[in-house]
Amino acid sequence: MNRDFIAWLAQHDDRAYDLHETHVNPAFVKMLKTIGFDKHYVRGEGAYLWDDEGNKYLDFLTGWGVFAVGRNHPKVKSILKQVLDRDLPNLVRMNCSTLSGLVAEKLTRHIGGDLTQVFFCNSGTETVEAAIKFARCYTGRQDVIYCDHAFHGLTTGSLSINGADFFRERFGNLMPGTRKVPFNDLSALERELASKKAAAFILEPVQGKSCEVVHDGYL
Ligand SMILES: Cc1ncc(COP(=O)(O)O)c(C=O)c1O
Repeated sequence: MNRDFIAWLAQHDDRAYDLHETHVNPAFVKMLKTIGFDKHYVRGEGAYLWDDEGNKYLDFLTGWGVFAVGRNHPKVKSILKQVLDRDLPNLVRMNCSTLSGLVAEKLTRHIGGDLTQVFFCNSGTETVEAAIKFARCYTGRQDVIYCDHAFHGLTTGSLSINGADFFRERFGNLMPGTRKVPFNDLSALERELASKKAAAFILEPVQGKSCEVVHDGYL
């Protein structure tokens, strides 16, 4: 490979949509072309993107919400550069890293209450899978209650508590012991909880798919 990685990448820029059509997801490419989103972005900074024709875009999608501090934030870039340049001993596994300990300390201080420990995950859906396992293991119960229109990720456990048939169909039987309640319906939730079979109730206070927000007093 070319020693200049960015130059090597740039050589192939005009093939991006063809590459994805052939090797990644042709339906997605077709959709982007249909709605005119088949741009060639060349730069991202904060909340903005620029394409190869110099047009500037305000990116409301933010990578489905992952760019809370914007793209290529100078502080994040500076720390990543420092870490890479120091050849830090990452992921030793049989070891306790200072960094994850500090992150756990900051998170628990921020959250407050009696939550003093953190379980680190790589993605939203992995976090939900872990929450289901912790709840079932701790309570000895099986059921997980979820809401209509809920979205918690796309792995099998998280999909089992997805409130839209569209996401679940064609994958056969998912995780057993899940029970759906209407969003913001307190009596339906109380009925389910009264059965004493629930290990957990998993909820988005602001639903990503329906855009509904919990009513006062629901939580
Ligand atoms: C509320 C909620 N939970 C879980 C997920 C899944 O996260 P990930 O895509 O990182 O697996 C999402 C993703 O949009 C989400 O909105």
